[in-house]
Amino acid sequence: MQEFFDICSEIESTMCLIYRRMAHAMRGNEKLQELMLQLAKDEADHANQVRYARVLPQSESFAGVKIGKSRLELLLLKAQSLLRDLENDPPTEKHALLKAIELEEEFIGVHVGTAVEFKDEKLKERFSMLARDDEKHVGTLRAYFNKVYCPAT
Ligand SMILES: [Fe+2]
Ligand SMILES: [Fe+2]
Repeated sequence: MQEFFDICSEIESTMCLIYRRMAHAMRGNEKLQELMLQLAKDEADHANQVRYARVLPQSESFAGVKIGKSRLELLLLKAQSLLRDLENDPPTEKHALLKAIELEEEFIGVHVGTAVEFKDEKLKERFSMLARDDEKHVGTLRAYFNKVYCPAT
């Protein structure tokens, strides 16, 4: 269980670094840069919340995890490799948006809010809010992408 939270918080903090890096690459586009910085801030907050979950009394708070560790580890590797790519080669706007959407969508399926079985209802509510946050991230990124790259004719 604690290992699960460790990997999850690592993913959230890697996402935070990814968005910061993307924001840095989007310097010419103030609006998109602001959006990326906001996402980075959210991910930093998510990482903190997952770290908080890790130190809660485990047997009273959680019943178990519904997904395998390997799936999470794969996603962490994917996020880390994207971060490395971004560091080596600043992304174009379009590429950055597509990569961010892809990663967020994958992460929603293994999120603490969706993958953990909670015993405590309040805790469950708190973490499903966190999962909804990342769903909103996908929505925001998609809306931006569609507006700029697929404008309705
Ligand atoms: Fe997140
Ligand atoms: Fe997110």
